[in-house]
Amino acid sequence: MEKVTLKVFRGDVMGGELVTYEVPTQPGMVVLDAIHYIQKNIDGSLAARWNCKAAKCGSCSAEVNGKPRLMCKSRVDEYPEGVITVTPMRAFPLLKDLVTDVSWNYRVSAKIPPLVPKPEVAGKPFRMQQEDVDRVQEFRKCIECFLCQDVCHVLREHDRKDGFFGPRQMVKLAALEMHPMDNLNRREQLKNEAGIGFCNITKCCTEVCPEHIHITDNAIIPLKERVADDYFDPVQGLLRRVGLIKREKKQPMDSVPNEQTRIHTESLQRAK
Ligand code: SF4
Ligand code: SF4
Ligand code: FES
Repeated sequence: MEKVTLKVFRGDVMGGELVTYEVPTQPGMVVLDAIHYIQKNIDGSLAARWNCKAAKCGSCSAEVNGKPRLMCKSRVDEYPEGVITVTPMRAFPLLKDLVTDVSWNYRVSAKIPPLVPKPEVAGKPFRMQQEDVDRVQEFRKCIECFLCQDVCHVLREHDRKDGFFGPRQMVKLAALEMHPMDNLNRREQLKNEAGIGFCNITKCCTEVCPEHIHITDNAIIPLKERVADDYFDPVQGLLRRVGLIKREKKQPMDSVPNEQTRIHTESLQRAK
């Protein structure tokens, strides 16, 4: 029987090391299968997070040969060079072995208010153009694996979690900002609290997204353009001042009625 050699990080915040395991291979085997083999047959104390084994829950995120990947979507035969290294995501605090604490992402997500329908459509079925549906549908495919957050240098290398929400949350904000029925002005949050200016469009996030969301081209760049139009474009500013163009009237963030923010507030409290 053929075997694959895995070097798996074992340890916690106090320190750790790569431990070598020999695992028998099977046709179609993925890295998560190899981790399960180790847990069942070699060392049951190896900690790894997973749920669906179908690339849909976003739980099994790790770094395979140094690249952020879903372990359940990484076939062992993709790595023919012998040794496969499996380490935890580097951008988040380590809990144990391959498990990291990704709760920061949920706390940030809770700062983004949900969709606030325009008054004329509130309580009614939304009627939308198909192209508007398609545009936001792409963003709704996100499985919250946080691989894009892990690879983004603003969070990974510079640890600017204090100033930048990260690419996953840009995708969430894009789904709301580009929703034709949303009535909340999200550009101030994008510019200030979410720190969209930190992104310098390296596109690393797009490369690792298992749902193939065009994070930079379809979410971040159009959001940057909207923020630039509102805050930095001198021509648009002049045209607005002389009344030749008008800003789309939307509710400011702090004016959202209580009932519409109830779910948001509850999720914020849960995340604390
Ligand atoms: S494109 Fe922007 S959000 Fe994506 S990895 Fe690069 S800096 Fe981060
Ligand atoms: S945008 Fe893609 S990489 Fe980022 S969390 Fe969602 S599915 Fe994962
Ligand atoms: S186990 Fe669900 S995405 Fe891998």
